[in-house]
Amino acid sequence: MSLRNVKRLRKTTVYIALSAIISSPAFATVKSDFSDKKLRHLLKYHQVKPVDAPAPRDPALVELGRNLFFEKEVAGRRNISCATCHNPLLGSADSQSQSRGQGAIGLGPHRRGDGDEFFQFLPRNTLSLWNRGVEEWDTMFWDGRLGGTTETGFFSPADPFTPQNFSNALSAFSIIPLTPDEEMRGFPGQLDVFGQPNEMSELTNADFPLIWPLVTARVTNEEGYDELLADAFPGLEESELDISHISEAIGAFMEEAFTALNSPFDRYLAGDNSALSKSQKRGALLFYGRANCASCHAGGLQTDLDFHNIAAPQVGTGRGDAAPLDLGRGAITGNKEDDFKFRTPSLRNIELESPYFHNGAYAKLEDAIRHHLNPKDALDNYDANQIEPELAGLFQNDKVTINRLLSTVDPALYIRGKPLNDSDVQDLMDFMHALTDPASLNMLDIVPDKLPSGLPLAD
Ligand code: HEC
Ligand code: HEC
Repeated sequence: MSLRNVKRLRKTTVYIALSAIISSPAFATVKSDFSDKKLRHLLKYHQVKPVDAPAPRDPALVELGRNLFFEKEVAGRRNISCATCHNPLLGSADSQSQSRGQGAIGLGPHRRGDGDEFFQFLPRNTLSLWNRGVEEWDTMFWDGRLGGTTETGFFSPADPFTPQNFSNALSAFSIIPLTPDEEMRGFPGQLDVFGQPNEMSELTNADFPLIWPLVTARVTNEEGYDELLADAFPGLEESELDISHISEAIGAFMEEAFTALNSPFDRYLAGDNSALSKSQKRGALLFYGRANCASCHAGGLQTDLDFHNIAAPQVGTGRGDAAPLDLGRGAITGNKEDDFKFRTPSLRNIELESPYFHNGAYAKLEDAIRHHLNPKDALDNYDANQIEPELAGLFQNDKVTINRLLSTVDPALYIRGKPLNDSDVQDLMDFMHALTDPASLNMLDIVPDKLPSGLPLAD
């Protein structure tokens, strides 16, 4: 071999060796030290700590709750279950801007009114169920109208009748979706799927103490539930069971099934610097730094469980007396300063549950993020064609509404220094992906093979 060739070979070897070092994980760690130091400092500053999973629940209670979650026997017309709208295969939601209850058929994005004269949209986007069983989660719904803890007691739209013997707000929750006529109970005169009268249909939505025993009886009268009930509540006669037992069981199931705390971000919080990619770290630095996201999307689950107005497009049916507007928290407290405030959503598994915002205004995660960067621009340029055609025409973009929304927008929507550019937004998107627990991508295991009532699982 000539000297020149030897030199060339040496050079190549050095080059290959150097490339190997540069691309080796060890070198990457050294190189990313700086952002890790800064990011860990920011996380500490914002008091973002690893999230404690809730303690495991009694397997017999969970198994009862699992069946009830998918069960249509508990619905007035035996035609809808919790899982119709909280589909475990669709990020625990339904892929609809506003969910469709009575008078609709089909699953997920295909669910449509079936020409039924009673068809009504529910006023809001279906909330996901991830991690609602963690200890600090005491505020439910987009507007916080149900909640509490064992210490403070529980409140709900059923007050003063709200039972108190629950483990947490999630376990208290199921007393509510079973009662509204447009959601699970059905309207007067409507027969059930067998053409039989629905014994709950003549009551009103406010008749909680009359509806609950009828729902409970649907379960206790069904032979398929005898063993499940006996296992879940040993020592109690079926006649001693009430809606709080049904609700507690469904809550225990939701807690077990939808706790999702094994995302790359969780692993990073637990100390593993290699859990996040470089762009995810850049995104996290923006989220907890310059872009100020963490002032509302606070803590390990990215929510302060508090209410803020970020001037979400007023599109869709709206809710209550203010329709076609939705005043959110303002309609609950009656305080003008709470108008258009909604509970800060947790961003865990966020990529699995489009569309976004309380009314599903945004089909794409990126657009939901971009809205925050300049709400005025976002409202001016909002494209209502991204939501279902029946709702697209209901975009309130008159000057009065837009001014009302923008004049009280939360000052925490604030970027420090120069505005974010496209690659910053991409980094934020990459950070959002780091919030997904891979186990949540396949939830088929939790779906029962068949229902104790014998009713079909499919919608
Ligand atoms: C017709 C669709 C539909 C059905 C059926 C339904 N839900 Fe929901 N669910 C929603 C919508 C929409 C929201 C948000 C409503 C709001 O905030 O105003 C919601 C909210 C929730 C929340 C609150 C989550 C949070 O972050 O605060 C829980 C928990 C929940 N549902 C559980 C259930 C259970 C359990 C059942 C069955 C007993 C059920 N849902 C039946 C559509 C539905
Ligand atoms: C002033 C408080 C506040 C700040 C700051 C904030 N958000 Fe939000 N964010 C909210 C609220 C409130 C909503 C729900 C709005 C609604 O539904 O009308 C929301 C919604 C979202 C959603 C959609 C979630 C869903 O389930 O529909 C995403 C994604 C999001 N925010 C990401 C971000 C990012 C990224 C930043 C930083 C650039 C940020 N947010 C800054 C309060 C805030």
